[in-house]
Amino acid sequence: MYLIIFLLNYFLSTSLYINAEIISNNEIYYPTLWQTVPESLTEYPLADDDNSSSQYRLIDPWFYPHRLGLYKILINITTPLMPFCSSSNASNILFALPSQFGWQYDSNRLFTNGTLNISLNSWWASANYYLSVIPFLAAIDVGLIPYESFRIVQYENFCSNSIQCYKQVPKAMEQWHKFFIHLQQSHKNIDDRILDNDYLGPMWLAYEASIENALPLIQSKLSYLPSNVERLFGYSWGRLINLIAMTRKNTNLYETIKNQRTFLPRRMLLESDRLTQTNDLPELVNKSLQVLFSFRFDWLTYIEKIWSKLTCNYEARIYAQYTLESMATSKFLALKYLTQAMINAILFQCDTTFKIDL
Ligand SMILES: *[C@@H]1O[C@H](CO)[C@@H](O)[C@H](O)[C@H]1NC(C)=O
Ligand SMILES: *[C@@H]1O[C@H](CO)[C@@H](O)[C@H](O)[C@H]1NC(C)=O
Ligand SMILES: *[C@@H]1O[C@H](CO)[C@@H](O)[C@H](O)[C@H]1NC(C)=O
Ligand SMILES: *[C@@H]1O[C@H](CO)[C@@H](O)[C@H](O)[C@H]1NC(C)=O
Ligand SMILES: *[C@@H]1O[C@H](CO)[C@@H](O)[C@H](O)[C@H]1NC(C)=O
Ligand SMILES: *[C@@H]1O[C@H](CO)[C@@H](O)[C@H](O)[C@H]1NC(C)=O
Repeated sequence: MYLIIFLLNYFLSTSLYINAEIISNNEIYYPTLWQTVPESLTEYPLADDDNSSSQYRLIDPWFYPHRLGLYKILINITTPLMPFCSSSNASNILFALPSQFGWQYDSNRLFTNGTLNISLNSWWASANYYLSVIPFLAAIDVGLIPYESFRIVQYENFCSNSIQCYKQVPKAMEQWHKFFIHLQQSHKNIDDRILDNDYLGPMWLAYEASIENALPLIQSKLSYLPSNVERLFGYSWGRLINLIAMTRKNTNLYETIKNQRTFLPRRMLLESDRLTQTNDLPELVNKSLQVLFSFRFDWLTYIEKIWSKLTCNYEARIYAQYTLESMATSKFLALKYLTQAMINAILFQCDTTFKIDL
């Protein structure tokens, strides 16, 4: 019974990110300025090498269009490697990354304050650095991106080339490498199980590795966030994403927008948002925040252990996803799906990468 209570606590909180609303194709929108940013390295400005007559492309990752461009390059080169994207690049499972980055920009979480310059003080931008520059460098390393001499401008301690980044965030670099290498292996008949195992699995491992490596490095930036409520929100995002990762939720543009629109606040949170009676946030955001404030983070390690068992095979993960999706609309339905996830976790063999000791 405790198990159920733990999990419910968690579901209510993660309803911040997950919801079951249907979104139609014409509601799809690309991140702000997507159409105008570079789609290949050759669209970045040229700079002269001081010591020779050669030139290189100069990428400033703290300039919004440049960082968004890294994503556009990644989407551009990986879409042909994902056969399920034949109808639209919005099916590309990397789209959660630029979409979230666009949300951070729109809500001024990058501290752009009406400009295109990202502030080095921004905690969100610092976290996103390891979810943009890192996958880009890994894709370069495995040879996915056509060769063009380039440099990434270095600021503070943010690593800016592959060698540095292998030293700074080894696990993230390694997992993104694996993801891109996986991607290059051709698959003919893709069904949901293969999508789960060969695409979403490695993608989420890399995503998690980036966050795991990044969080300790960017801790000093937390103090610049405008309120304790926003700090809690950022912290929760960093901690709870693991639980979503375990279900291997699809991260294409359709799914990402669905969650973002309804549950992610379109402005930074203020101290006064703690008093949910008086705030101007949409109802669902408001609701989710209330639950977040009461979430027992001291239970998280335990919850993660249980959740990893409940998501240990494909059959269970599907129901774990349904559980999350229905949480916002019906607790009864969510509980029903949760039960099914438990049954499947026992009934079907766990994936070999998971330990079973239920
Ligand atoms: C030019 O060469 C000097 C000395 O060899 C080196 O320290 C510097 O980093 C080089 N500059 C560039 C832009 O490569
Ligand atoms: C993806 O699709 C959109 C809409 O069709 C298009 O504007 C864009 O150029 C495509 N490519 C990339 C890399 O986004
Ligand atoms: C990638 O970029 C090239 C050149 O800009 C463009 O012609 C092509 O349609 C793009 N591919 C995708 C999948 O967006
Ligand atoms: C930009 O916005 C952030 C957050 O609102 C604020 O802390 C910072 O002082 C602003 N910076 C400038 C240069 O206005
Ligand atoms: C943005 O940054 C660039 C390069 O550091 C600088 O030249 C420019 O003045 C900045 N723009 C604004 C609006 O702060
Ligand atoms: C936010 O939630 C509180 C408590 O449930 C409620 O009283 C308040 O009206 C809500 N605010 C909005 C804007 O929905």
